[in-house]
Amino acid sequence: MTTTPSKRRMLPLLTDGPHGSRSAATCFYRCGNACDHPEPNTSGNTHVSSIIEKALARRTVLAAAGVGAGALVIGGLANNAAAGPRVPRSTAAAGGWTPVAPNVRDTVTVPDGYRTRAVINWGDPVLGDAPAFDPFAQTEESAAKQFGYNSDYVGVLPINDATALLVVNHEYTNEELMFPAGVYTPDEIRRIAIQSHGLSVVKIQRVGGPSSGQWRQADPENRYNRRITGTTQFEMTGPAAGHDRLRTTADPSGRKVLGTFNNCAGGQTPWGTVLSGEENFNQYFGKSGALDARYTTSYARYGISGTGDRGWKSVDPRFDLTAEPHEPFRFGWIVEIDPFNPTSTPRKHTMLGRFKHEGANIQIAADGRAVAYMGDDERGDYMYKFVSADTFDARDTQASRLRNMQLLTRGTLYVARLTGDDAFAVDASGNFTPADGEYDGLGTWIPLTSDTTSYVAGMSVAEVLIDTRLAADKVAPTRMDRPEDVQPNPVNGKIYAALTNNSDRAKKWPVDEANPIASSYTRPSLGAPLTKASGNRNGYVLEITEGGGDHTGTSFAWTLLLVCGDPESPETYFSGFPKDQVSPISCPDNVAFDSVGNLWISTDGAVLGGNDGLFRCPVAGTERGHVQQFLTVPVGAETCGPLITHDDLSVWVAVQHPGEGTGSTFATPDSTWPHTHEFPRPGVVVTWKA
Ligand code: FEO
Ligand code: CA
Ligand code: CA
Repeated sequence: MTTTPSKRRMLPLLTDGPHGSRSAATCFYRCGNACDHPEPNTSGNTHVSSIIEKALARRTVLAAAGVGAGALVIGGLANNAAAGPRVPRSTAAAGGWTPVAPNVRDTVTVPDGYRTRAVINWGDPVLGDAPAFDPFAQTEESAAKQFGYNSDYVGVLPINDATALLVVNHEYTNEELMFPAGVYTPDEIRRIAIQSHGLSVVKIQRVGGPSSGQWRQADPENRYNRRITGTTQFEMTGPAAGHDRLRTTADPSGRKVLGTFNNCAGGQTPWGTVLSGEENFNQYFGKSGALDARYTTSYARYGISGTGDRGWKSVDPRFDLTAEPHEPFRFGWIVEIDPFNPTSTPRKHTMLGRFKHEGANIQIAADGRAVAYMGDDERGDYMYKFVSADTFDARDTQASRLRNMQLLTRGTLYVARLTGDDAFAVDASGNFTPADGEYDGLGTWIPLTSDTTSYVAGMSVAEVLIDTRLAADKVAPTRMDRPEDVQPNPVNGKIYAALTNNSDRAKKWPVDEANPIASSYTRPSLGAPLTKASGNRNGYVLEITEGGGDHTGTSFAWTLLLVCGDPESPETYFSGFPKDQVSPISCPDNVAFDSVGNLWISTDGAVLGGNDGLFRCPVAGTERGHVQQFLTVPVGAETCGPLITHDDLSVWVAVQHPGEGTGSTFATPDSTWPHTHEFPRPGVVVTWKA
């Protein structure tokens, strides 16, 4: 069925969003109107040097970059430590299908021959004693037992061949779509919203035989199911745990934090736990008076202003910066949960730094150390990696697992500087034009701190970890166009980063070879002519090859795999693949890999007139750069996850914020997906071959 989005209605307080096509509702509810504010990065760190200083070094690195030899590559399925090249399979993800055309349907559209179903949606029971979903009778108690709102990360951790644990984040809440008017007080809405954040652990079971890719929720009455919410207790780990700046009235130890917020992407660890990034945490804090002058610089660098918040301080004083100036230092971390131990205390790892974490994904290096790749999702911010001090223990024992669960508490944190290999040159549009025809060059991982030694002058280890952005500013990393998901490819060992967009590139900073687009083309609606806009509107996908294939090293080579957009737009680049054969793609956000190493890319905020979607892009051979759209999500939604599991039988995505749009409300929503009610219910979808 094809539907047209309903005529947009205006709320009194929300006008069109400041951020390209993104609606005002998205800007307010998800990012706290981040784009309204100046970028917090005023470091003056600019961009890739365009001096050809590294021709010799580049040859050295590339010659040494025989990736994969001896490296233990881990990703995709939890507990799956398979190494080395995979044999291509003729399966769902790796096989052929006719790409889905751009559309504005209010449904999940998949290729012919595939089926799709919602596995679980907002309000469905997670715990056995959860009440039946009733949007007119929500309470904080019911929300704490039901599936939360707006899933982003999707993890599937196998228990056996027929059952698994689905672990997802609940990034934020759309109050305008969750609550009927006139039923709840503002404080009731805030309390329910706090419980609708966090994560869910849900046992699922396969439908059909072992060759089926279809799954559904298992009985909620089981020992694994769990809700983690905005009030669940977390333990801080690592060098900054217990630091004075993490201490509050309620927690003089500085080690026990309530809740996790704005959890965006994440990753499964090789030891069977889940990592999750606390992203736009700044939006939850308000103020009742002046802010603590000691933290003016830090607050500013993280966009913490006490304005434009959700008013949560009226139901919990810890969200009042004036009363509790340290509370925001307890957010912005990578959290780790053990879904196989439902009574375990989830943890926040200070060793991985504090910024607007998109997510974290682990690669075990050849020497056994765990390496986590991470992005800081803000215009003009940085990419990071962490290398553990200790090594991964692959033995399948409880003692080994407990030991592995300490890997993220000690090690070294790095930030990335990228250097191009072509002299600075731009075309008439101001876009960087690489003389060698490729956007590529070299890079360095600059150490910021280990667990014992700070490498940033004037800052202690704990200060580097709490004010990571300020620490990084001092060592001249490369300001990127919003680093989102950063993940190692388990087949080729290379790292892929989604750089989603930056409307202010060129306006605020010069282009460079890694951030080459000063102006780009969008479509105001499907089928409308391409329209030129300032800035990088459609994003890039970056490929990193660690020097010598050593994930613990400090040198790398990089290349842009994709400059996204409509293939008819002159600035787009698909690694040389014929443009007339690729699907339009805009605003890459999350990435995943299938069993043969194809890259899968989900999008958020596409500005080409159609709904967001999921795309497959081979990264090797003659098909490299061949972007094809696998599915589209409903009106107003972004595509999250994604995840390819079970020998490519199952393709998972989260449908986040369906119906989000200016003037879209509970009573008059732009979307009613999954069409169980007259309003939208974000959730998790699995797609399989019929
Ligand atoms: Fe929650 Fe950076 O997307
Ligand atoms: Ca080049
Ligand atoms: Ca994201």
